[in-house]
Amino acid sequence: MKNKLFCDIVAVLSVFMIITGCASNLNNVSSEDATSISAASFAQTRIGVCIYQLNDNFMSLFSRELVRYLISLGFSKENIIVYGSSNNQATQLAQVEELVNKKVDAMIVNPVNPSIVHTITDMAVESGIPLVYINREPSADEEYSWEELDLNVTYVGCDARQSGIYQGELLADLGLDKLDINKDGAIQYFMIEGAPENIDAEYRTYYSVSTLTNAGFEMDCVLDEMGNWDMATAKLITEKGLALNDIPEVILCNNDAMALGAIEAVKEVDLVPGRDVFIVGVDALPEALEEVRSGGLVGTVFNDYICQSHSAADAAIRYISGEKNEHYIGCEYVKVSAGNVDEILAETNASSESE
Ligand code: BGC
Repeated sequence: MKNKLFCDIVAVLSVFMIITGCASNLNNVSSEDATSISAASFAQTRIGVCIYQLNDNFMSLFSRELVRYLISLGFSKENIIVYGSSNNQATQLAQVEELVNKKVDAMIVNPVNPSIVHTITDMAVESGIPLVYINREPSADEEYSWEELDLNVTYVGCDARQSGIYQGELLADLGLDKLDINKDGAIQYFMIEGAPENIDAEYRTYYSVSTLTNAGFEMDCVLDEMGNWDMATAKLITEKGLALNDIPEVILCNNDAMALGAIEAVKEVDLVPGRDVFIVGVDALPEALEEVRSGGLVGTVFNDYICQSHSAADAAIRYISGEKNEHYIGCEYVKVSAGNVDEILAETNASSESE
């Protein structure tokens, strides 16, 4: 939890600095300008938010926390305009255009398709609106161009390699004896991936398995399919996989929603997750944390939406206040097993209760 604490301290300090003017002084803004930036002035500030799909379990937690945090800083609810883009890039571009026409003070965008973000960047830069991307990282070239051209554009997210490594470690910690139920010396596994061309999906898929391989496990992939980050889709994939194959010893899911779907499918055929098959996810959704607690999930990885949403809001505020940001702002994942699940539950509950 050290990282989370650090993140919160930085967030609180940076907002305090903006409010008191300390940060502005550091960035050559006169103290007169600095004192004009007060919490009360946020009441008039307008932020536009575009989320690739609002009914994505994780993004709905993320956006709720973002709005809650902005309101806690003095923003008024009517001035936080949140659009869900229905996983449709054309819809999202039209929404960004609308936000530009509304002349919002900053935009926070979770791109549908990170490979076309240059279009969104151009729209924001041409209209002088600062832009913070979240959750789906644009390419290194795109990020380099923000740096090169000194644009008020940044990305806030986590390094998905870390989440894949943590998934592998959670399973490796169980040991070969426990994981290799059929005692053939190898681990038969299902992989349920998020979405094609998504960096989180790619890294989690690769690093979870390579962590186990590097720890000496022989990994035998029986099924690898795209579950679109979605519980119902993952449930269907698992049902189909169980009907066509031998029972896997492990089901690696790129996120918790899909892990919850896999748990349902496994239970339908009277297998006990955590005894007959070992499942891991990523995100730390409330329902997944309950599964970790009861042993249905070996573990998950906290995709710290509190740190990410606060850092995104703070970055937008710094731009609005005439300051600069780094062009990549990182948060840390946290490995969650039965040992620390209560700590993570307390942290995430505390945030949702403060609404
Ligand atoms: C989360 C997924 C979510 C996806 C959306 C990932 O980081 O783990 O749950 O569906 O982001 O882009």
